[in-house]
Amino acid sequence: MTGYVGAHHEFHDAVFVQGWADRFAPTPPRIALFDMILARVDRLGGPDLHVLELGLGPGYMARHVLQRNATVSYEGLDFSDVFFEVAKRTIGPFMPRVVLTKADLLDQNWPRRLSRRPGAILSTWALHDLGSQEAVAAVYARCHEILPIGGILVNGDFIKPAGTTWSYEPGRFEIERHLELLRQAGFAHPASLAEFETNLQSPTAAQNYVCLSATR
Ligand SMILES: C[S@@+](CC[C@H](N)C(=O)[O-])C[C@H]1O[C@@H](n2cnc3c(N)ncnc32)[C@H](O)[C@@H]1O
Repeated sequence: MTGYVGAHHEFHDAVFVQGWADRFAPTPPRIALFDMILARVDRLGGPDLHVLELGLGPGYMARHVLQRNATVSYEGLDFSDVFFEVAKRTIGPFMPRVVLTKADLLDQNWPRRLSRRPGAILSTWALHDLGSQEAVAAVYARCHEILPIGGILVNGDFIKPAGTTWSYEPGRFEIERHLELLRQAGFAHPASLAEFETNLQSPTAAQNYVCLSATR
């Protein structure tokens, strides 16, 4: 069996966004990804750790991290006001520790919009939506410029799994290529920590994602 894996989004349409957020509620494997990312944040520690999330979306990872780590401050970057409204409701009582930053990750000036320098940059299910390997590579390069030495980038995103016979949209590409792009951006120890919801035979657009990490 073969076919095409990709998704079409209306990130600025309130009805679409709420429907997407409802459909993409955290499930056990998605929560396992959040826990893996949280463990990297906790390990980094520090009394004044500022965490930046690229593509805040409905705020599911933000809520997960803020609920379990009582000290980090959090900056959620997104280009969608509609998603910001959903995220505010998801994050609820933790909003006083959150800064919302509106920026387009395809505009290379996005780092200038940040409120302060992050020690950890996180992302889940967002960078593939930039639509190309070049755009993801540019984000990796900007992250390397922003982070201090010892800072971490953890990207949980959809990929094209090894051994597939299916075609994938250009933003979903092989793990090895991600690791190469992280290395080219200057990161040390790029690694794929785990694969989630692997499905080679009949994949949906919500399956086949990995947790990638790298250190500045
Ligand atoms: C799947 S959602 C992220 C889910 C989120 N990480 C969570 O755990 O709830 C992807 C987000 O990326 C944002 N996004 C997509 N393209 C973007 C771009 N070019 N610049 C900024 N944000 C973008 C979308 O608006 C959307 O909110």
